[in-house]
Amino acid sequence: MKTIKVGLIGTGYIGMVHLDMLRRLGGVEVAAVADPNAELARAAADRFGIGRVYRDADALIADPEIEVVHDCAPNNVHFDINAKAIRAGKELLSEKPLALDSRESADLLALASKHGTLTAINFCYRYYPVVQEAAARARRGDLGEVRAFVGHFLQDWLFFETDYSWRLDPQVAGNANVVADLGSHWFDLVQFITGQKIVEVMAELHTCLPKRRRPKGGVLSFGAGAAGESEEVAITLDDYASLFLKLGNGARGNFTTCQAAAGRKVDIEIQVFGSKESYAWIHVHPNALWIGHREKANEVFYESSQQQTEDTRKYATLPTGHPMGYHDAVLNLFRDYYEAVAAKRDGRPYSASFPDFRTGHEMMCVIDAAVRSDKSGAWVKVEGV
Ligand SMILES: NC(=O)c1ccc[n+]([C@@H]2O[C@H](COP(=O)([O-])OP(=O)(O)OC[C@H]3O[C@@H](n4cnc5c(N)ncnc54)[C@H](O)[C@@H]3O)[C@@H](O)[C@H]2O)c1
Repeated sequence: MKTIKVGLIGTGYIGMVHLDMLRRLGGVEVAAVADPNAELARAAADRFGIGRVYRDADALIADPEIEVVHDCAPNNVHFDINAKAIRAGKELLSEKPLALDSRESADLLALASKHGTLTAINFCYRYYPVVQEAAARARRGDLGEVRAFVGHFLQDWLFFETDYSWRLDPQVAGNANVVADLGSHWFDLVQFITGQKIVEVMAELHTCLPKRRRPKGGVLSFGAGAAGESEEVAITLDDYASLFLKLGNGARGNFTTCQAAAGRKVDIEIQVFGSKESYAWIHVHPNALWIGHREKANEVFYESSQQQTEDTRKYATLPTGHPMGYHDAVLNLFRDYYEAVAAKRDGRPYSASFPDFRTGHEMMCVIDAAVRSDKSGAWVKVEGV
């Protein structure tokens, strides 16, 4: 089989995760990386044995050998990079959130559909084996009609006033911070597990730390506390958000997210209550799915290559009892995507079950609705989907 040639843009935190998982995938070769931070790009290329290093995304996109682009740059350049990659005829896997707002994401979706681009977006948490299992059981009818759902996504890496990220700068992040950064993942989990769309929201966005110290030299994501010179900056974007949500079938839910919750690292919880049973998944114990019953004992289902439903077994790749993790979830998503890329290239039929630019656009519409609701103090409909 001919190796698929990949180019990756943005060699920061998540770019390195992509490179590591692309190395595990097989059948693909990362031929080039691009980052304006030449030192980072060179270090990534040396570590992964990548032949070409570009300083800007345009040069990588113009590289005729590159078939698939991974966009791992910050949000404010997603639109430009993604649009150029699509126009250049590349297949495209982008980081989330897809763009700065739903106008940009709608344009990207239309452009990708015009060019027939095979797109994906890295909503990786749905690729934990038991999250796939919950969705498969719901699709099979085990859950019944979803009635209610609750959950949170909590972190503490923006706890101190000296913690700073481009995610807090509206010029780079967009109109929202935490509700876009973490909320988009959680909204994707809700839609994926229930098979329902979020249609209406009532949101409060709040800034717990309205002043922070920004390092003068710039920062990468999730770095240790800032050292060296810093300046005080006013923060306008949310580091806390709480939402009431309605699904298309009328089910009601609520969600809280915060990046200043001391002690909570990547604390995701989602509970879904159906008319037949309930599911609960928590990221601090990511290998187990709680299945709740009214008339018999509850169950805890552990990820298993033998016991998962037939269509989700392939995501539990280790012998039962060996826990899988975040890297494996990203790899599962990449595997589904590259199977489709290979099939498309060879003219074989393929199914695109992975999250794509339509999913990315839907999440941008929910984020925009949350921002509008916070401003108006009222329920607002999710528009533009
Ligand atoms: N799916 C996930 O779980 C997940 C996790 C983390 C980040 N993300 C997303 O990935 C993106 C990057 O986040 P990060 O945490 O890796 O940020 P980061 O700051 O660690 O890295 C971003 C990198 O992009 C580079 N960059 C900046 N402008 C660029 C440009 N014009 N062209 C090319 N490279 C450019 C920077 O120099 C830096 O190396 C964001 O959109 C973020 O929301 C997703």
